[in-house]
Amino acid sequence: MIDEDKTGNVEDTVSRRHFFAKLGLGSLGIAAAGTAAFAYQFLEPNVLYEPSPVVNAGKPDRYPLDSVTLDVNSGIYIIHSQEGYFSLSAVCTHLGCLTAWKPELGIIACPCHGSRFKQDGEKIEGPAPRPLPWKRIWLNDDGDLLVDRSTDVPPLQRDSFVRV
Ligand code: FES
Repeated sequence: MIDEDKTGNVEDTVSRRHFFAKLGLGSLGIAAAGTAAFAYQFLEPNVLYEPSPVVNAGKPDRYPLDSVTLDVNSGIYIIHSQEGYFSLSAVCTHLGCLTAWKPELGIIACPCHGSRFKQDGEKIEGPAPRPLPWKRIWLNDDGDLLVDRSTDVPPLQRDSFVRV
């Protein structure tokens, strides 16, 4: 239906009404889209995805006999001893600094407060309250060494070594 205003301008009245109708519908559309976006954010699981605790340390022949190799990215040592391969956490048990292997001294040392550990993780001196924990290590079907950083194993036990 077309209205005529007091001045007799038919087109102007219709287009103004049309304009406000579209403006109202547009506002409703924007409000609905905003509500949908907030609802989606609210309903989406708030999950923190962390990297796997299992590290592939590669083939055993990468580690010469009597070597201590630090993997800085994963914070573990791979140690090839006479008894076999084993893995230690490289994170100091005092306040969590990354330790370093000192081949000239044959020890693992923490640069933060001076804790020192033997090659098997046993504490020699310093404020660290515990030895460096041993981590579960095994060979997968491809012959790679895998280390589970989330699983401690008892030190110096037969099952704590991998023999190739
Ligand atoms: S963090 Fe290693 S000695 Fe303090």
